[in-house]
Amino acid sequence: MAERALVTGVRGCLGAWTARALLDEGVEVVGFDLGDTRHRLELVLGEDIARVTLVQGDITDRAALDRALDEHAITRVVHLAALQVPLCRDDPVLGAQVNVVGTMNVLESVRARLDRIPGVAFASSTAVYGPSDPSPAPETGGTAQATHYGVFKHANEGNARIAWAEGGVPSIGIRPYIVYGPGRDQGLTSGPTLAMAAAARGEGFTIGYGGVAQYDYAPDVGIAFARASAVVHEGAIVANFPGAVASMQEVVGAIEAAAPSVAGKIGWDDVALPFPAQLEATELEATIGALPKTSLAAGVAATIGCFSR
Ligand SMILES: NC(=O)c1ccc[n+]([C@@H]2O[C@H](COP(=O)([O-])OP(=O)(O)OC[C@H]3O[C@@H](n4cnc5c(N)ncnc54)[C@H](O)[C@@H]3O)[C@@H](O)[C@H]2O)c1
Repeated sequence: MAERALVTGVRGCLGAWTARALLDEGVEVVGFDLGDTRHRLELVLGEDIARVTLVQGDITDRAALDRALDEHAITRVVHLAALQVPLCRDDPVLGAQVNVVGTMNVLESVRARLDRIPGVAFASSTAVYGPSDPSPAPETGGTAQATHYGVFKHANEGNARIAWAEGGVPSIGIRPYIVYGPGRDQGLTSGPTLAMAAAARGEGFTIGYGGVAQYDYAPDVGIAFARASAVVHEGAIVANFPGAVASMQEVVGAIEAAAPSVAGKIGWDDVALPFPAQLEATELEATIGALPKTSLAAGVAATIGCFSR
């Protein structure tokens, strides 16, 4: 029987790249998203957008989610739908509904269908850590989040743990750090990708933060979510994504190397992100197998190449 994956938040950056990875594996993709934007799916999938069944629905609407799971006989779930840091800051109540209640809906809907769906692969975030956590931050998790968004993601990790302990729902939560690549155009840390888009147009850009952080190439993260949805079968695991550690100077150097015409025109604000610079990250590959590790130079060059086309 063909595998059919439901990807919530499919119209977002990681949704599009997870759909790409699933299609490449021969898995049928049903995308569930409240929005109606197509630009990321078009950028990432090209003509293959026709192979994705798009369902418009709100993750806070449990009945709509249940219908999508049953009408399409879904056998895998990747849950990515969420509001990012700025939107959670502007409307924390809506943020809690979408990010926490929405995730609870996914866990509960899968609990009712464990005969067909083996578990949930979901997106947590580096925002579960705060500035007082050590670097490299232990994979066991964060202690004092700096944003509502981080608290919501931390709550989801706890709810996934209880959903396994009390409901037998297996899950793998992946914590990306700074995702970059085609399609990354919103959120607190979208600056580097927006700078790559500006560089492709020959324009300068100022990135709104600085310091050292980890950079995760979006296509690699999509492969990790696709793979996690295939192997999730026991326990509630949460793991950091093993991205490339880099200073902002190195990120800007990679942009200028790929687009020499903007040399000296890409700047940044010397404001540190409220997260540890580095994360321990061994659990993910121990659980789902070795992942592609696109270097920062190669990922930045490929992203600028994509934007130039
Ligand atoms: N991009 C990053 O750097 C990063 C880092 C850590 C974690 N994450 C997490 O990864 C996931 C995907 O991130 P992204 O960059 O693709 O985000 P994105 O903002 O590009 O996409 C999120 C998608 O969720 C959809 N959505 C929002 N509210 C919804 C609702 N109520 N019902 C259904 N769909 C809804 C949006 O329409 C959008 O298409 C999110 O859970 C995010 O918190 C992202």
